[in-house]
Order: sequence, then structure tokens, then C-alpha cells
Amino acid sequence: MFNNKIKNICCIGAGYVGGPTMAVFANHCLNIKITVSDINEKRINAWNDSDISNLPIYEPGLDTLISRSRNKNLFFTTNIKESIAEADLIFLSVNTPTKSKGIGAGKASDLKWVEASARQIAKFSRGHTIVVEKSTLPVRTAKTIEKILSESQEIDENQEKKTFSVLSNPEFLSEGNAINDLERPDRVLIGGEDQSAINLLVDLYLNWVPREKIILTNIWSSELSKLTANAFLAQRISSINAISSLCEATGADIKQVSKAIGMDTRIGNKFLLPGPGFGGSCFQKDILNLVYLCEYYNLHEVAAYWEGVININNWQKDRIFKLIVIKLFGTVFEKKLAILGFSFKANTNDTRNSASIQICKNLIEEGAILSIYDPKVGSNQIDEDLNLPFHKTNSKKNMQWTKTDSIQSAIKDCHAIIILTEWDEFQKIQWESLIKKMKRPAWIFDTRSVVDVSKAEQAGFNVWQIGNYTS
Ligand code: UDX
Ligand code: ADP
Repeated sequence: MFNNKIKNICCIGAGYVGGPTMAVFANHCLNIKITVSDINEKRINAWNDSDISNLPIYEPGLDTLISRSRNKNLFFTTNIKESIAEADLIFLSVNTPTKSKGIGAGKASDLKWVEASARQIAKFSRGHTIVVEKSTLPVRTAKTIEKILSESQEIDENQEKKTFSVLSNPEFLSEGNAINDLERPDRVLIGGEDQSAINLLVDLYLNWVPREKIILTNIWSSELSKLTANAFLAQRISSINAISSLCEATGADIKQVSKAIGMDTRIGNKFLLPGPGFGGSCFQKDILNLVYLCEYYNLHEVAAYWEGVININNWQKDRIFKLIVIKLFGTVFEKKLAILGFSFKANTNDTRNSASIQICKNLIEEGAILSIYDPKVGSNQIDEDLNLPFHKTNSKKNMQWTKTDSIQSAIKDCHAIIILTEWDEFQKIQWESLIKKMKRPAWIFDTRSVVDVSKAEQAGFNVWQIGNYTS
């Protein structure tokens, strides 16, 4: 039986995709009840916390949207059974990290959470349910979901046969800018075959997205477009990062090069900022998915081409770590270094695949003592990410790194400041007041081009800035 109107939406997964996406849906679809469900009770409690500053995700503008709709038409719950049962449409927004072991380890996505969710849907749904994949998934996942659902078709409580339509509707939001991306998407992509299900999903988006921005494709194109978009974006960053190293060697200035190439309308001026290497939950995972897919189809040259994007990214992190050590007279042993920024980019508390993790680990390995400051990342998260041996029991843990609450306390007695995330407040630092509290010679390593080099040099700092020639 087909619904002629969506009244209840369930989103499985209350993470960086599910939370903000459903907040925007709830603000535009006032007559629809939206329930976001997750197995992680702590996370759900945080979404329901009466103190809005305790939301589990930091995303500019999210708190306002949540305050407006929470417990009106937007609900957060661990009661997955009930939210699936009452849903006409279910968004799947569960995590799909790269597999760490087994077949395809290091490349393929781990689909165990997707499969578990599909089985829950098969078990608890009623009547006809539209299942929409939102998580970044390898190509062909919709078919897997469809198979699980269609082969476990049962009779529901009303003695009706359960039926399903599976659509792909990949998310293109960029963290830190998620609300804007969701409110004003460049495009909404919907892949699938069931026209009536597609129409219902299109109708939801038409509440705020212009019709011409909604693209309909077959399911394979939709899934592959997501992987390809992320691979192209990541490729741009590896390209500019590769050129940044050449600028440093030759005397060219990466900012001038970026501007010059970005003015070519065929290239465009976005996504040309050099950095310590891309992070986040998507780029690496999606390229690895692409590589895995190409290898599966014996397209080894294509696989190697895309793998090169990741190789450059890893090399960028490694070369930055090494040059810091070299500039600090070849050793950082027992030297105190300030790390400014731990999240993978500004305006998010997400640290997944952050370049900071590898760079900090390598510096600690060399014997450095880090004082880490990030406006939104807490010490538990840093502890988990650095995952140092014996970190729980080793009384020397605090010798390896500490988390500080301000830039001022992070830099005290440090030999160097290493800027790894482009948080706004790092661009406003008054360098002359900081240098007095540091060991001399004092260094700044600016991997995000946020420092006014001449001002910092005037204050007495030695400055290394990404993509800038230094003798
Ligand atoms: C990305 C895609 O942009 C988004 O469309 C997709 O849905 C998910 O993956 P996200 O990972 O949230 O989004 O952030 P993004 O802004 O793309 O940044 C990814 C990484 O690239 C960050 O580490 C960022 O610092 C880095 N980056 C980005 C650069 O180093 N230079 C740039 O010019 C842009
Ligand atoms: P993303 O960035 O893709 O949103 P996150 O890891 O932030 O990834 O969020 C995914 C969420 O999905 C997590 O909070 C996780 O607990 C949740 N999740 C995973 N499997 C299930 C499941 N079977 N049922 C409900 N929630 C799930």
C-alpha cells in the first residue's frame, strides 16, 4: 500500500549527518513528525539536554534550529522500534567507517551498521515504507538494503504485507557550514526507480528547495556521484597541497598561485586553500571506496590514480611533522610545543581523520610535550584519538600532552606554536603579547595560512607558513 503523504519520518543515526539534516527538515516541514533514533543513549540524552549548549555536535546555527523544533515536531529517542513502526519514510544516517579488519580492510566501508539498521527496518516497519540512504555508502549498497528488506518481507500487525522502496539521497553537507548547505543546497540528488516514492521525497524538499535544484538519477549514478564529488574535492586539496611544497622550495607564493589559477573560471576559486592534509569522515573513506570498486572491476590504473590523492595527503602530514622537527634544530625531545586546533577544520568539534591526530602522535613519538588548545574539542576526545600506549595507566601521560582552556595557557614556555585548524580566534592573535611568555627562539608553524607573517616576525617570531618560501 502506498502512502499518499508523508506524515512521519524516522532518521536512524543521530550523528553529524542525521542531527543537522533532520533539524533543517523539521524547520521546513512543520506538519511532519520527525524522530531521530540512535542506539547511543549518551548521544540521545545530549540531543535532549535542556541546556542547548550541551548538544553532542557543534555546528553554527544548529542550536537555534533545535530550540525551535525540539519536542514540537522533532524528537530524539533510543526507541528505534517505535520510531521505525510509525514511519512512512526512513532516512538511514548511520556510520560507515572504513573496515579495519577482514576482507577489504583499509579500503572497503564497514556496512555492519547499515545492515543492522536494514534488519531493524524489516522487523519493525508497518505497511509500506520508503527507505532513503543518506550515509556515504559504497556503490550498490541500495541493492543490498533492498535485498535484505525484500527477502524478509513479513506480515505486519495489521496483517498487511510489508513493502519497501529504497532511494539514494546522498548528503553533500560540509561540516561547519552544514546548516547553510542544507538550507541552500547546490543540488539535491535523488536516485531510485519507484516514481511515487521519488515524488514523495521531492515534495518534502520542495518545502524549501527550488525544483530546478533537485536532480533525479538512477540509483547507481546517485551513489557514484557522491563518491566522485568527494574524490574530486579531495583531489583539489591534494593538488594544492602538492603545489604548496613546490612553492616552499622555489620562492613562489601559494596564495598568489591559488588566486591566479582560481580566476580561471574553468578551475574556480573555491577549495584551493593549502593545509596540513584533508580530514573528516568522508574524503578518505570515499576515495578508498572508489579504489576498492575500481580494483574489483580490474581497473587498476584508475585505482592507483585515486589512491595517489590519499598518498599525497598522508605525505603532507608527514612532511609537516618532519619540517617542524628539522626547524627546531633536529630535535623536539622534551620541548614544549603548543598545538592550536585539533578538529579537522574550523567550526566543528569533529576530529575524525583530523591531520592534527597524526602530526601530534608523531611529535609525541619524538619526545615533544604538547599543550593542545581547541575551542570545541574536549580532552576525552583527544585522549581517544591519540590512543597512546598505556595512556590510561601511565602516570607520565600528562607529560606527553595536556589540554588547555586558552591560547595564553597553551603557549606558556613553549618553543613553538603549531596552528593546525583555521579557527577564527587564531587569526586575531596579538603576537607581540604572546612571545614574551615563550622560550626563544620562538617559532610559529602556520599550516592554515592564518598568520600575518610580517606582524609575527616584527614581534620576534620565526615563522614557517605553508606554501611560503623560507630560506
Ligand atoms: C566533505 C564534502 O565537502 C561534503 O560535500 C561531503 O558531504 C562530506 O565531505 P567535510 O568533510 O565536512 O565535507 O568538510 P570539507 O569542507 O569538505 O573539508 C574537508 C577537509 O578538507 C578539511 O580537513 C578541510 O580543512 C580541508 N580543506 C578544505 C582544505 O585543506 N582546503 C580547502 O580549500 C578546503
Ligand atoms: P555521520 O557523520 O555519518 O553522521 P556519526 O558517527 O556522527 O556519522 O553518526 C552515526 C550514528 O549512527 C551514531 O550516533 C551511531 O550510534 C548511530 N547508529 C549506528 N548504528 C545504528 C543502529 N543500528 N541503530 C541506530 N543508530 C545507529
